[in-house]
Order: sequence, then structure tokens, then C-alpha cells
Amino acid sequence: MKVSAEILNLVPYKPGKPVSETKREYGLTEVYKLASNENPLGPSPKAIAAIQNSLLEQHRYPDPSCYDLIQKISEKWNVNPRQVGIGNGSNEIIDLLIRIFCETGDSILTSQAAFVAYQVCAQAARVKVRTTPLKPDLTMDLKAIADDFFRNPTAKIKLIFIPNPNNPTGTIVGGEELNEFLIRLGNRDDVLLVFDEAYTEYVRDSKFKEAAKFFAQYSNVIVLKTFSKVYGMAGLRLGAMLAPEYVLEYYNRVRNPFNVNELAQVAGIAALEDQDYIQASQKIVWEGLDYFYSELERLNLPYFKSEANFVLFDTKRNANICFENLLKKGIILRPVGNYGFNKYLRMTIGQASENKKAIDAIEKMLTEVPEIM
Ligand SMILES: Cc1ncc(COP(=O)(O)O)c(C=O)c1O
Repeated sequence: MKVSAEILNLVPYKPGKPVSETKREYGLTEVYKLASNENPLGPSPKAIAAIQNSLLEQHRYPDPSCYDLIQKISEKWNVNPRQVGIGNGSNEIIDLLIRIFCETGDSILTSQAAFVAYQVCAQAARVKVRTTPLKPDLTMDLKAIADDFFRNPTAKIKLIFIPNPNNPTGTIVGGEELNEFLIRLGNRDDVLLVFDEAYTEYVRDSKFKEAAKFFAQYSNVIVLKTFSKVYGMAGLRLGAMLAPEYVLEYYNRVRNPFNVNELAQVAGIAALEDQDYIQASQKIVWEGLDYFYSELERLNLPYFKSEANFVLFDTKRNANICFENLLKKGIILRPVGNYGFNKYLRMTIGQASENKKAIDAIEKMLTEVPEIM
């Protein structure tokens, strides 16, 4: 069977290397994965209890409407339940939004080095991807994005993706720049502004504004949330979106009726209620980030200050060789050459002991891999 050029040339999303695979390939017994921006605390104890209570009901189909979870989410972000959609991870929501709102030949618009899933999902749907350059401090240029939209009507841009904070840069947009962006593009009926907020709970910069705060003001704003990060449920696959009601009507027609399993639904409700766990998750990340900053400075490795649970740093070397070297030492980080950062690695914040092991391994690696001048 013949497939389209887009499918033929599709580079699949490359997830972080699994611990089991690394152990097997390198004959290691101890491996630490700081590669996929997961929560190092394990799941919330309340979520674990909710899953255990639900185990005996697993011969039943899950609630296709996710009723209880949607009630909870609507209370948390102060929106109408009819404005909440649930997905099998926010990745599924990204995929479906593109399939719903873009036809072949339409475009999505985002920034250079934005989260790679937008590109992968768009290409799979035969939709074009436009990007604007990052600023030198690796923040997204919202003015350039808005300019691109207005200058290119023939590109038929249907969705604009703003990951805030962005992965893999860890940077945010906010302040006056965001206000101007919303003034220029908000309330239009020909484009949807998708704020992807996978990491907002970790943000410390006071300039940041959660999109749920201006959601009601603009008829074309969509907010994506994930339970994979601060809520510690990456393996259960749960994401949510706040969106105008008409978007939800299309979304609920297109999505698989049982896209979110019952364990994810009950765990999601419990995790949202577990304030102690959320605070502990934030604390471990903030302490870990500060530790990494001071250690990277000691090792003379430049880094970008992060508002998420990972940090992007300059190895000053071929990052793929550094990645392989660290794997042999039992440390899995994430090379980000696919985003154009050939000398950089992305390192997720782990437990304090894991962070220390990573820094020890990096320090040793620096003496083994030659610097690129
Ligand atoms: C910016 C961003 N958005 C969305 C996601 C996808 O998260 P999920 O696990 O909910 O599919 C990620 C995952 O790393 C991410 O970094």
C-alpha cells in the first residue's frame, strides 16, 4: 500500500530511554532516569488508594463522559463543566484538535523549539507547521507569532500552540507581551489559541499568568492540562482541556468514547485533592533546580533558567556522545538535537540522591568527552 509523503517522512516522537532497556543494553543494575519530566515522588498516596478501591470494577467499561472528574476539574479551574474535555494524556488532545480543526493544506503555528508533539501530530494529519524564531534567551516571540499569522493569510493557520512553560527550554511567556498577543489575536473566530500548560505548577516567575485566568475573556482560548507532571500520573495517561463549548461538542464526537480508563479517572480526582502531595512535588523540583543551577555553575556549564521540572544545559560537547557516556554510567538524560540544540542535554529533576548521582556522572563525563571549541 502506498502512503502519503507526510507519513513516509514522519519522524516518530522519541520518548526517553526506558530504565529496563538501559539496564539490559549496558549490563547495569542501577539506572536513574532523569529524561522524561516525570514526578520523582511516585504517584500521590491518595491516587494509589483510589486505584486500589477501583480495581475490582475493572471488568466494566469506564464512564465515557468522565462525569466526576470533569466536575472536579471545572471546580479547580473555575469553568463550566461543559467547557472541560478529557484525553488520554494531553498528547491525545493535541492530536485530536489538529484533526478536528485543520484540513489537508491548513497550517498550525508555533515557535521554533516548541514541544515536538505539535509537529508530529500535524504532519500525521497532513497539516503544515509554521514556526517563528526563538529570542536569544530562548523565550518564544509572541509578537513574531502574531505577525506571522497576519502576514500569511494563505497559510490558513487554524491553531496556534503556545507551550507555557515550553519543553525543552523551560521558558515562559507572560507580562505585556502576552497581553498584546491576546489583544491582537483574542476573540477571533478563524483561529484557536492553545496554551499548553503541562508545567504551570512549577512556575516561580511572577510575570506568569495561568491561561485559566483569561480563558473567560477570550472566545478562542484553549488551555491544556496534564496529570503526567505535578500530579504524578504519567503512566495512567490523563490530560484535560478547558475550551469553548463548541470545541467540546466536536471533540466529544471525534474522540474514542472510552479514551480514558477508570483507574486514570479515579486517580485524577484523588490527585487533584492531594494538596500535600502537590506541595511536596513542587518543593522537590524547586530544591532540585536550585541544586542543579549551583552545580552547573561550579562545572562551568551554561544553562537556561527553567520554570518547569527540568533544566536545559550546554555540555559544550557533542551532546549525543555525552548522552551515550552517561548511559554507561547509569544516568539517562535527554538529548535535544531534534530541537536544534546539538550541544545541549535536558535533565529532569529527580530525588536529591538521583540529582547528586547525575551531577557526579556529568562531572566525570566532562573529563572523558572532548570539548568542542
Ligand atoms: C509541553 C508539553 N505538553 C504536553 C505534554 C504531554 O503530556 P501528556 O503526558 O499529558 O501527554 C508534554 C509531555 O512531556 C509536554 O512537555
